[in-house]
Amino acid sequence: MRTLIKNIKNIIGIIEGPQTYKKAEALSNVEMLANGYILIEDERISDYGSMVDCPDNMDQVIDATDSLVLPAWCDSHTHIVFATTREKEFEMKIKGMSYEDIAAAGGGILNSARKLKDCSEDDLYEMAKGRLEEVTQFGTGAIEIKSGYGLSLESEVKMLRVIRRLSAYSPISIKSTFLGAHAIPTEYKKRREDYINLIINKMLPKIAEEKLADYCDVFCEKGFFTVDETDRILKAAAKYGIPPKIHANQLSNSGAVQVGIANNAISVDHLEVMGDTEIEALLQSNTIPTLLPSCSYYINIPYAPARKMIEAGLGITLATDFNPGSSPSGNIPFLLSLACTKMKLTPEEAFNAVTINGAYAMQLEDEVGSITKGKLANLIITKNIPNLTYIPYMFGTNHIEKVLVRGKVM
Ligand code: NIG
Ligand code: FE
Repeated sequence: MRTLIKNIKNIIGIIEGPQTYKKAEALSNVEMLANGYILIEDERISDYGSMVDCPDNMDQVIDATDSLVLPAWCDSHTHIVFATTREKEFEMKIKGMSYEDIAAAGGGILNSARKLKDCSEDDLYEMAKGRLEEVTQFGTGAIEIKSGYGLSLESEVKMLRVIRRLSAYSPISIKSTFLGAHAIPTEYKKRREDYINLIINKMLPKIAEEKLADYCDVFCEKGFFTVDETDRILKAAAKYGIPPKIHANQLSNSGAVQVGIANNAISVDHLEVMGDTEIEALLQSNTIPTLLPSCSYYINIPYAPARKMIEAGLGITLATDFNPGSSPSGNIPFLLSLACTKMKLTPEEAFNAVTINGAYAMQLEDEVGSITKGKLANLIITKNIPNLTYIPYMFGTNHIEKVLVRGKVM
């Protein structure tokens, strides 16, 4: 099957040569080609070029006159498997309660865990599938999904099996993360050591045996898991070849960045509270910082110091953190707008942070995240808009005409 996209006003996000993530000044580089075509053979981009060299004899032709074509977004941090939304907590937040106050009042992660316990795997799957289909229409073509609302062997495995079913159903590339260490369940409050042991001795072996997780996450934060507990859990996961991607420095400067780096984390995520020492430690590592501006927006906490990090020489990834408690949105175009207006990223930096850098944060940089010969044909075809900047500029408008995943219109 040969599909041609022709008369493209501008192809955006071309990368040739070896793939890695973009950092510092290079984060501003977005290669483009005006008046071009993209040729797709089966699932992959087989060629692209200028319209003067456009091939013919195709099985399918898409005319993209007036459109930009971009690589589909890569969302490297989400929690889209959950049983119920938490709009009551939204109302509590409006009345002045903080994220921590709401958790202490019986809301938060433990609230989601109570609801998930009584939800069947099939119902959970149907709801998560709806969310996955929604984010696909926003342009997401690769996604990481976490467990973490189970907090028991049975429910964590149920969540991870849902993620596996989503991978089998959807053409989108999906990575799965085990987040048993998301909160201490109520019944373990007075014996937290037993819960850590449950994660290490029961959950991890079962999950490894069924190959249910690509990564291991811990919410390393005051009131959740300590640096020492995080270290033990990550080391236990490493024995099964499961590398870390962790929740770090969201509410305090907790030492999470350092423990993530020490355990060769693929990424450390959140980073709303960062000191110079943490930036320096990241500069000396291969761990990519992942920032989640829609969480800062929604729970009213500071935005991660993205400019400072980039100017220090780092690369960053942006992701939605789509979850019912701290970021009830999987909308990457809105995220781009927030990153530009609130974190002062340029549209080019924000674009690279949710494409090639997002791919890198899921170890998918050889498969997705750019217009590159041989990569999966995961593409966004826009409506008639003048340029890349227009997407974060005119926020709230849907600029997407079509989304292709593995060469098929979704
Ligand atoms: O990334 N911080 C920890 N976990 C999620 C929130 C989970 C929830 O409130 O349901 C986050 O913000
Ligand atoms: Fe999260």
